[in-house]
Amino acid sequence: MKKNKNISDSLLDFLGRCPTPYHAVEYLAGFLRENGFQPLKESESRGKLNPGNYFIVHQDGGLAALSLTGTPLEESGLRLAGAHTDSPGLKVKPFPVRRKNNCLQLGVEVYGGALLGSWFDRDLSLAGRVSWIEKNNIFKTGLINFQNPLAVIPSLAIHLDRDANAKKSINKQKDLVPMLLLSEQDDSFEEILTLQIKKENKTADPRQILAHDLFFYDVQKPARIGLHEDFLTGARLDNLLSCFTLVQSLIHAPDVQNSLLILYDHEEVGSVSANGARGPFLRMLLKRLLPDSDRRQQMLSRSLLISVDNAHGVHPNFIDKYDPEHLPTLNNGPVIKWNANQRYATDSVTGGFFRALCGRAGVPVQDFVMRNDMACGSTIGPLTAAETGIKTVDIGVPSLAMHSIRETAGSKDCVFLLQVMQEFFSLLPVDALWKGHCQ
Ligand code: CO
Repeated sequence: MKKNKNISDSLLDFLGRCPTPYHAVEYLAGFLRENGFQPLKESESRGKLNPGNYFIVHQDGGLAALSLTGTPLEESGLRLAGAHTDSPGLKVKPFPVRRKNNCLQLGVEVYGGALLGSWFDRDLSLAGRVSWIEKNNIFKTGLINFQNPLAVIPSLAIHLDRDANAKKSINKQKDLVPMLLLSEQDDSFEEILTLQIKKENKTADPRQILAHDLFFYDVQKPARIGLHEDFLTGARLDNLLSCFTLVQSLIHAPDVQNSLLILYDHEEVGSVSANGARGPFLRMLLKRLLPDSDRRQQMLSRSLLISVDNAHGVHPNFIDKYDPEHLPTLNNGPVIKWNANQRYATDSVTGGFFRALCGRAGVPVQDFVMRNDMACGSTIGPLTAAETGIKTVDIGVPSLAMHSIRETAGSKDCVFLLQVMQEFFSLLPVDALWKGHCQ
């Protein structure tokens, strides 16, 4: 029980420290390094990799971690796991400043399918990546995180919108502009960013801010809640919960075999980018691992990908939104996601594999299928399967309020996920379960 608490405590700490994909990747890369994983650079020469543990950061928002035992990859196959580092939210526009009625406001774009109603009346801070020119004319990029609450999007009072409870619609351009501060001061946004860069990076001395990828986030810390602390609440559980748990599983698997963990950015906006699941990141890694295409094909045919992304747990107030025979509940184990139209990549081989794997790990398992009269979301699973031909299963821990500024998950489910993924990374050989060697 204590061990479980430690895992969810460190997950909450991670969530609180990582408001953007860049911060999450930086944190996880540091964590991998502390645990003996060596950094690889995409720009360096592509010599053969010796047995060992490695990680590679791809354009700040993507990350891969690799464990190689020395067993030929074409014989062992790869235990692959994937997740995404991004979450829906509000991204600051390139030239965001708006001054109105003594307010400095910052215009935002909506990133992904955010549940916008949850963004009102929250204490918001700002974090992300900035590029600038130094006083000595060198181009630099770096991460910033203001941490303190510096903005809010106030609701309109009920007295000025009597229909607010019955029919609330949100105009993304007009209604969602955060108020940064009430001030007569003439701080330009560039000055605000320059000061923050200097504060967080003692050697930096920006002459000109060039551009930014900045996101607002809720400063309320993620928490363990409930009479018996059975639930976790916080932002970005989708899908940083999975990223964190996968990295922990790979590091702590008792007898790790040839394995590759890949974390993509840009899933929430369709995955078409240099570090999205439709980009070349995985393909480049697989080529680096086995340059010979015949051997690589052998390896892929023996590999399996577990695509991990949160699932919809049953919301007791809206039970009619779920298929009555598929009602996953919080704290009852990971969920296998099924969709006949390949919005999820699971099939009877891979879904059966995962169910058997849970059995081996002593972990409960549940199933989800969307109602036929509702549209089904998707994940990196089908994209990666289509790109590589690797057998793939889509799974994830059940959660509530997906894409809200504050989501809810079960505190036991991240432990179940950790246990089953450790079993997976230690599995020898990876195709044992579907070749009938299951003990
Ligand atoms: Co997700």
